[in-house]
Parts: sequence; C-alpha cells; structure tokens
Amino acid sequence: MADVAKLQVGDQKLELPIIEGSEQELGLDISTLRGQSGLVTLDEGYVNTGSTTSGITYLDGEKGILRYRGYPIEELAENCDFVEVTYLLIYGELPSEEQLKDFRNSIRSHTMLHEDMRSFYDGFPFDAHPMAILSSVVSALSTFYQDSLDPRDPEQVERTIFRLIAKLPTIAAYSYKKSIGQPFIYPQNDLSYCENFLQMMFAVPSEPFHVDPDFVKALNLLLIVHADHEQNCSTSTVRMVGSADANLYASISAGISALWGPLHGGANEACVSMLERIIEDGGDVTKYVNMAKDKTSGFRLMGFGHRVYKNFDPRAVIIKKACDTLLAKLDLQDPIFEVAQKLEEVALNDPYFVERKLYPNVDFYSGVIYRAIGIPVQMFTVLFAIGRLPGWVAHWKEMHESPTKRICRPRQIYTGELKRDFVPLEKRG
Ligand code: ACO
Repeated sequence: MADVAKLQVGDQKLELPIIEGSEQELGLDISTLRGQSGLVTLDEGYVNTGSTTSGITYLDGEKGILRYRGYPIEELAENCDFVEVTYLLIYGELPSEEQLKDFRNSIRSHTMLHEDMRSFYDGFPFDAHPMAILSSVVSALSTFYQDSLDPRDPEQVERTIFRLIAKLPTIAAYSYKKSIGQPFIYPQNDLSYCENFLQMMFAVPSEPFHVDPDFVKALNLLLIVHADHEQNCSTSTVRMVGSADANLYASISAGISALWGPLHGGANEACVSMLERIIEDGGDVTKYVNMAKDKTSGFRLMGFGHRVYKNFDPRAVIIKKACDTLLAKLDLQDPIFEVAQKLEEVALNDPYFVERKLYPNVDFYSGVIYRAIGIPVQMFTVLFAIGRLPGWVAHWKEMHESPTKRICRPRQIYTGELKRDFVPLEKRG
C-alpha cells in the first residue's frame, strides 16, 4: 500500500499521507488539506473521522473484537476485577501485585466526601435524576480541591485521578439514598471497590448488611465491559473539554452529561423502560419490531444497533452469558429477560435488522443484571458512568501527555444567510 494518497481538486494535485495503525488500520491524514487547498472535510456525526491516534483500546466492529491495551475483553472479564482493569487502562500495563496493592490503597484513602458536600444533596429535589446529581457533584469537586487542578502537573493529576475513582461510587450511592429518603452510608475502606458500592447503596444503619459475592462478581464484570470504548460520544466529550486545558473534574463532569443521552449510555435505562412497556402492552414483541421498522413511528429498539459494531457487540455476548448464570443461580424468572430474549430472536430474523446489521448492544442485557442485583432503573446509567470513568481518565491523560496536543476545534461549512443590511426594530414586518 502506498504511503500517500493523491487527490485532484480542479487542476491542483495534492498528496495526503496515509497513516497506518498497529492493527494495519489505514487513515488519511488531512491536517494539511486546508492549508494546501482551502478545502475542509465535512463529516456530520464524525462517521468517518479519526479524531486522534490512541494506544488504549482497539475495536474491530466488523469482527466483533474489543481489546484494552491489547488484552481481549473476554480474558479481562474472566480474570480481573474492575480496579485491576482500571490500572491497566490508565497506566498501560497490568499491575504487579505490589503495584495493584498500592493502587487499591490510594483509591481507598479517598472514598469519603467532604462533609460540606453532603449539604449539596439537601438542595436537590428528591426525584432529581441521579445522572444530573452525578455531573453536578463531580463538577463541584473542583471547588474543594483547588490545590490539584493543574492538568500539566503530573502529581496533581495523579491525586485527582485517585479522588475521582474513589469518590464516584460514594457520590452515586448518596444520590440513590437521597431519592429514597434513607440516611447516607459512609464508605467502608476494608471492603473491595464493588462491595463498598453495594454496601453504600443498600445498607441501612439499623441492621447488619451482607454483600452477596455473586452480586459483587456480576458488578465487577459489568464495570469491566463498560470501562472503555475508544472515541465514543462521552469520551470524545472528555477529550474535547480537556483539550481546552479544563481540569479533570470539569472534563469528567462533561463526559457524564454526554453519557446521559438515550442514544448513548442512557440507552440501558431506555431499554428496560421499553421492555416494561412491551410487557404491560401484552408482550407482543412483533408489534414493537414492526414499530421500530416504521420510520414514521419515531420508535427505535433501544439496546439495538451500534455506530461501530456491524457484526455483534462482544460486550453483549459476555453480559448475556453472565445474565444466564446469575438468574439461574438466583433462581429468578425475570419477565424482562424473557421478553428481551424473544425480542432479540424476532429482530435478528427480520430482514430490516439483518440488512442494516443491527445487533443487541451492551445496553440490551445489562439492565437485566442490574435489576437482579437490585439496582433501580434510574441508576443504570450511573453504573455505566462508574464503569466508564477509567476510560475517560485514560483518554484525558493520553491526550495531555501527547506532544501534538492541540485544542479541539472543528471547522464547518456555513450554509446561512449572506451578508444583509440591519433592519431597525420599527421597520421589521
Ligand atoms: N431500531 C430501529 N432502527 C434502527 C435502530 C434501532 N435501534 N438503530 C439504527 N436503526 C436504523 C436507522 O433507522 C437507519 O435506517 P435507514 O438506513 O433505513 O435510514 C439505519 O438503521 C442506520 O442507523 P443510524 O441511526 O444511521 O446509525 P448510527 O450509527 O447513526 O446510530 C445508534 C447508532 C445511535 C446506536 C442507533 O443504532 C440507535 O439509535 N440505537 C438505539 C439506541 C441505543 O441502543 N444506543 C446505545 C448504543 S451503545 C452505547 O452508546 C453504549
């Protein structure tokens, strides 16, 4: 393969370098195009635009491959816990025993929130969406840690990373406790990351609480499969905000807001609501598949389709297997799981979905596991955010460590009015 592409615009002949990634992916470097020709590229929704080079996550949507730092997601899900994967994503290598111990301890020592932060929760309405609370409180962390906001100081960045990873579950659990009117449960640092979160979610001060090891295992797995997914909408948001040298709290808060959207992380909540609606409506899945095919209905099958995966989503395969195991172990017959399976079967045999390569994505079955663990629907996307945090951090850090970092500032093709004369208010019709 040549290492330049030739482009002819009118009489002008241009040469654009071809970039090759480590998995032989090819891309056209158009960074000099405007300088050479005055042209910009147009790509609504960044369908065909590589915004950066990155060494964190590799995915091949045609083959259904997902690897963090070179390790297949299936092997990480089988062998690691979430904190270990967090270390891998952020620092690039699997930790030694000593490194992992130190990392766990560094996180443990930051799990509490400043007492003044608790009073923020008094100001939120009891029915506030926990994603709104999460992004607000994460942004507010910057007001408490003004000593460590400099993105160029590695020590400050390191401290901020520990604080964020440690505090996100506490912030999340408090938002749930607030919504049900129960007292906040302080973190307990002799527990593992996932045990601690489940304890803060479900314990009450009036009785002892036992964390179910099956729930801990399932939660670890879910967080791992959500931990990174290269340049998705929220990660690109974190990079975009961070490119302006905004501090890490501000950047992550923006990522949380992006993730909340129902076309992105919010799809897990939307998916369970859809399955509940189908059950309430008599369980006729074909009716909903037909509705999703009808463009005038405004309805889509939530948890189906993906911008990148055009074969199957490897995360959905792992989650479905975990779902089967957990429900069998708990001896649970969840009607939501049954309807989800029926819906998947009908959709996967329907030419509309087959032709468009629409498969269940990560959000299709994750809600079933969250329900089995006892996580309420409104908290699903919050769990996604806890899982995605190491990916956001790793990308923010990678961007700042890159010698070619620049502020992200896309161009546009203007399609508005040409210059026209101002009309005074009294003369406007
Ligand atoms: N139900 C019905 N039709 C769909 C669906 C769906 N879930 N998803 C895509 N399509 C159709 C589109 O209508 C379009 O049809 P057309 O070619 O006849 O116009 C075609 O498939 C391609 O869809 P696009 O919207 O162009 O695909 P895009 O890559 O822009 O969108 C997305 C991907 C947003 C994930 C989309 O599939 C969707 O809306 N899915 C439902 C929401 C969802 O599950 N999101 C979670 C994604 S995973 C994540 O973010 C963690």
